Amino acid sequence: MDDFISKSVEQTEEFAEEFSKNLNGNEIIAMYGELGAGKTAFARGLAKGFGVEDNVSSPTFAIVNEYNGVYPLYHFDMYRIESWNDLDSIGFFDYIDNGVIIIEWSENIEGALPENVIKVNISKTDNENERIFKIEGI
Ligand SMILES: Nc1ncnc2c1ncn2[C@@H]1O[C@H](COP(=O)(O)OP(=O)(O)O)[C@@H](O)[C@H]1O
Ligand SMILES: [Mg+2]
Repeated sequence: MDDFISKSVEQTEEFAEEFSKNLNGNEIIAMYGELGAGKTAFARGLAKGFGVEDNVSSPTFAIVNEYNGVYPLYHFDMYRIESWNDLDSIGFFDYIDNGVIIIEWSENIEGALPENVIKVNISKTDNENERIFKIEGI
């Protein structure tokens, strides 16, 4: 997929909403990018694409938020996950193949991700409202 340059949070959400139309209902989407990159904004747009009307925010404390849209959507935040044991104890592996999984701070669980994940790399630029999206695996 071509790189996408977003010039605003709204453009990021619209891009994710469009992107959601490529999904079949059992993908894992691993997002990478620093704090404020736009991971939650991307997840929000994707949820909107699934017809979810709930408010979507980072599940930092809950670890996982579940949304019911055209497909079940599981939104994880791995910020506080440090080991395979942590990942197992939150039941991560039971979610696989039961809906779409979208992950913030995938850096923390890199070794536990299956090979067929879709990777969404988000980087900031010198421009305050600009973000570059690089998507692999779709
Ligand atoms: N093009 C853009 N895309 C996404 N967010 C942007 C963009 N430009 C500025 N922002 C701002 O960057 C922040 C992104 O926040 P968030 O999505 O919560 O990031 P993360 O989950 O990666 O920490 C928001 O404050 C948003 O308004
Ligand atoms: Mg976030």
